[in-house]
Amino acid sequence: MDKLIIEGGKPLKGEVKISGSKNAALPIMAATLLTDEPCVIRNVPRLRDTMTMGKLLISLGKDVDFNNNTAVIKPKGKLGHVAEYEIVATMRGSFCVLGPLLSKLRKAKVSLPGGCVIGIRPVDLHLKGLSALGAKIDIANGFVNARVRQLKGNNIYLGGVSGSSVLATANVMMAATLAKGVTIIESAACEPEIADLAKFLVAMGAKIKGIGSPHLKITGVAKLKGTNYRIIPDRIESGTYMIMAAATRSTITLRQGSFNHLIALVDKLSEVGTKVYQEKGLIKIQPKKIIKPVSMTTHPYPGFPTDLQAQFMALMTLANGVSLIIDKVYPDRFIHISELNRMGAHIRREGLSAIVEGVRNLYGAPVMASDLRASAALIIAGLAAKGRTEIHRIYHLERGYENLDEKLCALGASVWREKTS
Ligand code: UD1
Repeated sequence: MDKLIIEGGKPLKGEVKISGSKNAALPIMAATLLTDEPCVIRNVPRLRDTMTMGKLLISLGKDVDFNNNTAVIKPKGKLGHVAEYEIVATMRGSFCVLGPLLSKLRKAKVSLPGGCVIGIRPVDLHLKGLSALGAKIDIANGFVNARVRQLKGNNIYLGGVSGSSVLATANVMMAATLAKGVTIIESAACEPEIADLAKFLVAMGAKIKGIGSPHLKITGVAKLKGTNYRIIPDRIESGTYMIMAAATRSTITLRQGSFNHLIALVDKLSEVGTKVYQEKGLIKIQPKKIIKPVSMTTHPYPGFPTDLQAQFMALMTLANGVSLIIDKVYPDRFIHISELNRMGAHIRREGLSAIVEGVRNLYGAPVMASDLRASAALIIAGLAAKGRTEIHRIYHLERGYENLDEKLCALGASVWREKTS
């Protein structure tokens, strides 16, 4: 197993190219199950998660060819309806084959994805939405079994205790594209990745109105066709590099990054003292030496994304004062606190909040990556810290950051991999 070594304290400089969005690519790849025709999907990041989705599609009977960030997904024989535990358990995103399989084959058996280190992560909203379309659903032996004679459009409220659900919206929207009649989804997720999926479905011939809003109107069609589509840039990768620049007080540039999808972060960074602006199609990040403390609460889009909470906390450990961080999407997503504290941060948990007392310096230490975004927070801390940081279990990073080591080295960071003994 590899560990990542970072010699911290070096400012970064230069330009980094942002990859395509992982969280848009996963449901879009799943949506190819809705058609018998070939689909070409461009700007797909080469990540463990997108490869896992490719594997799942192959296991369901598709042919997947991945080359130069382009995935060509074609039918190959008869489509299967069973998504096995071995694949679905490794990645929650694979649960979004449920809606397309049910819609196309009228039956689906998909392993429950289970919980993970960031919280319990139930699937009740996915099942509520599909049941409202007429599916008969039962859960047995760790699998969701869904059947239907004909999906029928309905009015569905998809709000949950923590607001809208990204993948439940994806599942229900995909299922509704081939249902009979009109489906209205209220409290639909407005995340740009859901809007991207909706645009992909429209390019396949689906009829969807209200894209990007919490009110989606889907008029079922008889058939969807193949298409050629380019995925949006990854806003979480873009945001991670923005926060990294702020924490290391480095002026850097993002090429092909997200700006409009990150207004909540750009606004918080301006309070911190870091200017983020667009110029000639590029995104420039210009931090100040002093990092101001800024409190932050995560919310569904367009609020501050939970997937950037850990990274922002890493930045606040170096602020000139105290900040308060609350995660309203995953209230227990604080596993990174103890690892950041190993590096000299002063963070404590009180109820639903993390209270971060900024320190002058972080210091390199051996630390353990626990999930994808917590790992990114440790990278940011390691780059800003004095001395050497060793990050163990970095396979989490390969799930979500394309060519991370190369990109960091190109920015001038001193980063390399070693085998753990
Ligand atoms: C997606 C993202 C993930 C991100 C999350 C929130 C992908 C592949 N993953 O995950 O990176 O952190 O959105 O932006 O796109 N909930 C329920 N019932 C459900 C489903 C969800 O109560 O049936 C709750 C969850 O526990 C959580 C909240 O709703 O508190 C939001 O979760 P959700 O939007 O569903 O996350 P995912 O779609 O799984």
